[in-house]
Amino acid sequence: MNQITVHTSRPYNILIGNGLLKDIGRYVKEVSGCHKVAVITDDIVAGLYLQTVTDSLRQADLRVCSYVFPNGEASKCHRTLLPIYDFLIREQLTRSDLIVALGGGVVGDLAGFAAATYLRGIDFVQVPTTFLAQIDSSVGGKTGVDTDGGKNLVGAFHQPILVLCDLDTLSTLPEENFKDGVGEAIKCGMIRDAKLFEVMRSGQVREHLPYVVSTCIDIKRKVVESDELDKGERMLLNFGHTVGHAIENHMHYQLTHGKCVGIGMAVITKAAAAAGIGDPSIHDAVVQALQNNGMPVSLDIDYSDACEACLHDKKRSSNILKCILIRSIGDGYIYAMPAENFKPFVLKGVEK
Ligand SMILES: NC(=O)c1ccc[n+]([C@@H]2O[C@H](COP(=O)([O-])OP(=O)(O)OC[C@H]3O[C@@H](n4cnc5c(N)ncnc54)[C@H](O)[C@@H]3O)[C@@H](O)[C@H]2O)c1
Ligand SMILES: [Zn+2]
Repeated sequence: MNQITVHTSRPYNILIGNGLLKDIGRYVKEVSGCHKVAVITDDIVAGLYLQTVTDSLRQADLRVCSYVFPNGEASKCHRTLLPIYDFLIREQLTRSDLIVALGGGVVGDLAGFAAATYLRGIDFVQVPTTFLAQIDSSVGGKTGVDTDGGKNLVGAFHQPILVLCDLDTLSTLPEENFKDGVGEAIKCGMIRDAKLFEVMRSGQVREHLPYVVSTCIDIKRKVVESDELDKGERMLLNFGHTVGHAIENHMHYQLTHGKCVGIGMAVITKAAAAAGIGDPSIHDAVVQALQNNGMPVSLDIDYSDACEACLHDKKRSSNILKCILIRSIGDGYIYAMPAENFKPFVLKGVEK
């Protein structure tokens, strides 16, 4: 088992290994004096892992209740959140009790936000069960929900007190969901770790899961520790994301996040090469890594339209747009440009 300590405003451990779920009761006891645990999960994950988690918590003499909602991004909104508050109140969870978020990023963000806000904040433990949630969404303390006006516009920073990454759970994850994590792991390698990138490029990801998950988490840990509240360096994690988000939006979320980010990385590295500020071999490497993992490398859409939409990003604070470029594999940096230059820049990256 691997252990990584995240030194944010409140430090916590991330445990990475096999067979951790069946011992969750013991791990929870080590970090919390709670009497009652509310496990929040979605219907698919509940069918696979809720019993194991509940049994282990009960064996540790904890009282357990659970709340299950329908899986999928559509549940990450107030229509699921408000009944969760009602459930926590009905179950009389107190400020010294605990929420366990068992599932992918949707569960983590939603249950994490419920934990951040119920009684003005109670402790929570993340038990990520998708590749993406293990290497990305469960680390860093961002929680939140979508609104009809956009994704992740309402949220809070709330660090978990423990993260349990049980690698065995990934054995039931459908390949298409797995690919979302692959996109983010390729990104981590590109911005910070050439060795990780080479493993990703080999396409042998499942064979190297402990190494890949631990390394990605450690990269995110370092970036998050230096910029907990997302005001500077954390932006590096957005490599491929500005274009990726534009594509996601343009496709009405019919193409999943990790694949859009993958195409975003391919587009932005080609654009940088065309603008003379990036080595063309970086683009070739991204394309190889995506292809070797069965991911799309391009998409025939109207990028002019897609860029327009992303330029209206509600989270952008000035007329300067910061995108992430790559100096050499493992060395990402923030590149600022006037927002109006972004569209012509991207269009260079999609010229045939
Ligand atoms: N907070 C952050 O920093 C952060 C970072 C990245 C992404 N996110 C958010 O994460 C969400 C996406 O997360 P996701 O990709 O994990 O999606 P998800 O939670 O929707 O999970 C994908 C699907 O896999 C199923 N599933 C989960 N674990 C499984 C398992 N072990 N076996 C079989 N099926 C399983 C789920 O039921 C779901 O149908 C988005 O809402 C995104 O905004 C948050
Ligand atoms: Zn992402």
